[in-house]
Amino acid sequence: MADGRKQPKSKYTLDRGMPGAFEGETITRRRFMSGTVHGAGAIAVSAFTLPALGFAAGSALFDRPPVDWEAIGAPDDFPNDTYLPRVITEVAGVGQVGRTTVYVRARNPESDAPPNPPGYDEPFIAISTRCMHLGCPVRYIDAAKRFVCPCHGGVYNFEGGVDGGPPVRPLDRFYTRVRNGQVEIGPRYSVNSEFRRFPSYRDPAQDLDGIGQYLYPGRFSTPKMD
Ligand code: FES
Repeated sequence: MADGRKQPKSKYTLDRGMPGAFEGETITRRRFMSGTVHGAGAIAVSAFTLPALGFAAGSALFDRPPVDWEAIGAPDDFPNDTYLPRVITEVAGVGQVGRTTVYVRARNPESDAPPNPPGYDEPFIAISTRCMHLGCPVRYIDAAKRFVCPCHGGVYNFEGGVDGGPPVRPLDRFYTRVRNGQVEIGPRYSVNSEFRRFPSYRDPAQDLDGIGQYLYPGRFSTPKMD
């Protein structure tokens, strides 16, 4: 006799009249397979979206290392028509592995592009020796006024822009300033083909023109300059 109270639903699919139900089942095979496929899809999507989101947000979320400046010589030591090599510590605390060669010259306001974006006074040009194809060390050849990579024939012009071969963007640069009568080298930064500065440097083979500037967020291990 009905007493007005709602009867609890049976846990069996057959009792609930579900299509494709079998005796003794608590979930239909169709629903079980759908759930499995959706679960696998969610895992697959999160497997590539979560790292990408973390990578993109990393620069904003994580602490950046302090900015270290290293003196490399008096301003008059550096001409503006050729580069001088200097060895600096790019990563502290790891011995010789953290040392790298940079090519340094005075900025020539008549031939060098103005700072881009404006506002950063770059008195000296300090070029990284890391090739922007796959990272081999490049060498400056003064007779040709070019940087040449021995690995796959990458060639860069006097400003470090790509002149030939497979590199995807100009050579990275380092911040420079003059303090206490010394030229000082700061953190590395990347530039695109118009020498627009990207404060956090990118890895080799990461193009910074067009959509590439959004696809490759800067490394959050880069000291924060601006
Ligand atoms: S690493 Fe320099 S051209 Fe390939």
